[in-house]
Amino acid sequence: MYKEPLKVGIIGTGRISDLHIIEYINNPSTDIIAVCDSNIKRANQKIIDWNLSNINVFEDYKDMLKMDEIDLVEILVPHHLHLNVALEAILRKKAISLQKPMCLNTTEASMLISEANNANVSLKIFENFIFYPPVIKAKKLIDDGEIGRPLSIRIKSNPGFSSTAWDVPQDASDWRQRTVETGGGPLVFDDGHHKFALAWYFMGQAEEIHAWISHTKASENFLFDAPAIISFKFSENRIGNLEIVYSPNLEIMTKHYAQDDRVEITGTDGVLWINHGHGSLGTTPSLVLYKNGTYINYNNVPSGWENSFINSTKHYIDCLLTGKTPMLTGEQGKEILQMSLAAEISSNEGRSIKITDDRLS
Ligand SMILES: NC(=O)c1ccc[n+]([C@@H]2O[C@H](COP(=O)([O-])OP(=O)(O)OC[C@H]3O[C@@H](n4cnc5c(N)ncnc54)[C@H](O)[C@@H]3O)[C@@H](O)[C@H]2O)c1
Repeated sequence: MYKEPLKVGIIGTGRISDLHIIEYINNPSTDIIAVCDSNIKRANQKIIDWNLSNINVFEDYKDMLKMDEIDLVEILVPHHLHLNVALEAILRKKAISLQKPMCLNTTEASMLISEANNANVSLKIFENFIFYPPVIKAKKLIDDGEIGRPLSIRIKSNPGFSSTAWDVPQDASDWRQRTVETGGGPLVFDDGHHKFALAWYFMGQAEEIHAWISHTKASENFLFDAPAIISFKFSENRIGNLEIVYSPNLEIMTKHYAQDDRVEITGTDGVLWINHGHGSLGTTPSLVLYKNGTYINYNNVPSGWENSFINSTKHYIDCLLTGKTPMLTGEQGKEILQMSLAAEISSNEGRSIKITDDRLS
């Protein structure tokens, strides 16, 4: 059991770190005591931007992890570094919040899970979309029986452009074009983790997956793995799909990435639409329920994307302080990784892939 306040170290102070630190700064049960980035200038600038004082700044994560005082590390580095940074944190007995996707492949994921278990170290795979308030509300409505038995899920990822989006540093885009560092494409494998997680959260792990993934040049040096369509077969004769389309001239309302996400869940008795994600198309309600011939608009569910990070972080702090099991566990993170890897294999081989395929074990 941990003592309050939990002492937190952040590894990787790139683009997404701005949303991770919000809850740690605001929560009286946590103190950020160290940050690390191989780009030390960036780490120093962030502690000024975040208005933090008395912070230890490191260039090498191994040095930071030697600090006995640190209880919990937030790992926010490119994907090919996830395993090694997490293994070092396990060696130093730190609780770990590891950004998605947990690893590049399931061999790495299995190793990480067993090392964490053997060392009795808490491991949370950080997935925020399942902590997004409209998603939490939709799950509650489903659990309350509002749409009957869910039969299908339809997920849409739709990047466009936005004059209000945040700036993404060039190096954050560059590594996303190098497969050895990402493990897959920027939309299906990287951002796609969130969409596979939504499918998993509402319907369970898919039993079989088929994918067709094409490519579109978004700029001189950036290739999107879109258009793409991924079909899911779930247990008990239920289905779903994820469709990814890049609309260069579609204006997205957002403070973050220029992308709209839309989800439709059809049940035996009704339909649910989650209309916002990274951003939104205008001022549609974030959640809509149709049943018994009537639409119910949920206008008061907070739909700022940052809330998904705040809730996911709050959840892990609570788990560490009360001994509860976090979501995602390593095993759950691996189930989602298996779904996204199955999609990549399916597209390469032009046939559907069962989740029990040996290459996903
Ligand atoms: N949950 C989400 O919605 C979401 C969104 C964006 C990114 N992410 C994830 O967050 C992670 C980081 O993504 P990002 O967009 O912030 O990338 P980024 O490139 O902006 O930031 C990564 C940072 O890691 C630093 N770094 C690289 N190697 C390092 C090392 N050996 N030691 C210490 N620091 C090192 C880089 O200098 C950089 O500042 C990735 O795992 C990504 O998938 C998640």
